[in-house]
Amino acid sequence: MKSPKKIFVCSECDAQTPKWLGRCPECGAWNSLMEETYTASASAAATVTPRVAEHAAPLTDTEDADCVRTVTGIGELDRVLGGGLVDGSVVLLAGEPGIGKSTLLMQLCGALGMDGKILYVSGEESRPQLKIRAKRLGTSGEGILLLTETDLDTILTEYERVKPDILIVDSIQTIYSQRANSAPGSITQVRECAAALMQRAKADGVSVIIVGHVNKEGGIAGPKVLEHMVDAVLYFEGDRSQSYRIIRAAKNRYGSTNEIGVFEMCDSGLREVENPSAMLLSERPTNVSGSCAVCILEGTRPIIAEIQALVTPTNAQNPRRTANGIDYNRMFLLLAVLEKRLGLRFSSCDVYLNVIGGLRIDDPGADAAVALALISSMRDIVIPPDLIAMGEIGLAGEFRTISSADQRAAEAARLGFTKIALPKRCIDGKIAAGGIDLVPLGGIYDALTLLAKQ
Ligand code: TYD
Ligand code: MG
Repeated sequence: MKSPKKIFVCSECDAQTPKWLGRCPECGAWNSLMEETYTASASAAATVTPRVAEHAAPLTDTEDADCVRTVTGIGELDRVLGGGLVDGSVVLLAGEPGIGKSTLLMQLCGALGMDGKILYVSGEESRPQLKIRAKRLGTSGEGILLLTETDLDTILTEYERVKPDILIVDSIQTIYSQRANSAPGSITQVRECAAALMQRAKADGVSVIIVGHVNKEGGIAGPKVLEHMVDAVLYFEGDRSQSYRIIRAAKNRYGSTNEIGVFEMCDSGLREVENPSAMLLSERPTNVSGSCAVCILEGTRPIIAEIQALVTPTNAQNPRRTANGIDYNRMFLLLAVLEKRLGLRFSSCDVYLNVIGGLRIDDPGADAAVALALISSMRDIVIPPDLIAMGEIGLAGEFRTISSADQRAAEAARLGFTKIALPKRCIDGKIAAGGIDLVPLGGIYDALTLLAKQ
């Protein structure tokens, strides 16, 4: 047997180097290289069994594959999965420790255990702990087989014996293969164990759900390395200090990646939130400047969120800039537009931006609300609670059209907003109905006049 050799593997992009470097030569990440011991037998190739060669076949002669889905009954999860768990697919559920991954999976077991056999492998908790959680969640336990084990070979042997319909591995960072010569949780281990489990399950058409921990910087080995191997990657996000949790698909071979699922963590587990807009607006302050409502699109679903800005004068040479839930660079862009086009002196102010409820907004349609919240805080003008603003802002200070403006306006109207500020071109030709006042926004100056009128 060849003697083990040392290599350094990047936890971000999986690149390998023979020497330690402060910065990964492939992806440029700092401090991401981790030492691993590598033996020839530990290579992924060693675990692959030779197959009969397959010949290329014309696409036209290829039969349609039926994508059979098991509806989990947890509506928000089904939505993100694209209509249910596809039989034989491999799903990676990633998120920070303590966010609620195990809770969600135990609830999933409760929902699916009646219809099939589930093998729940936990490398983190003991049986009594799992039992306590199941009881707390009201999971009957029917059809669920628990295995508290971290050794890959033992898990595979049990898997062969049990022959489950669904395999859950919680978490991949705790599973350990004796063939790979590195510590549990290292990139080699994570890759090896996931590959072995997937290969076995794929051959049998068994659905697999793998839990992967990530930290805020995404720096823990695991999920990144696995993303390309699995069929779907779901990120479980949220602020642990708050009860809202959002599940988002970062990759889905069987559905859209735009959908999100919203949950609330309660005493008895995760509760689905079917009306997130009402939840996000429930604690909105009244008569305070710097708060503006916006309707963003998450997949096919319009969601109303609250954007808050706090602008305070400072004498510091480098004023503070903080953005929570909004892209940092987008904030700088909007500040520059407001400064240049409206002459507002943000350069002598600290600026804090926040999206309520731990929501992360990528939709440029939120620009209008961000700009209004900033102006409102700077000028200390309260935005009326029945006003909502949407629209993308260009560098010239112009409001640009946004997608599905009708759908967003309808959601705003449903939640009681009566003044809907929209880019002019989204309104053209439309007549406001039912007491709704559509306010056209042409340029950034219109936003200023809209506020000045309040
Ligand atoms: P958990 O599912 O263990 O997180 P993960 O598997 O992602 O590490 O969730 C742990 C947190 O959820 C814990 O801090 C307690 C909280 N929790 C509730 O608030 N209610 C519940 O019913 C359960 C089971 C957990
Ligand atoms: Mg857990």
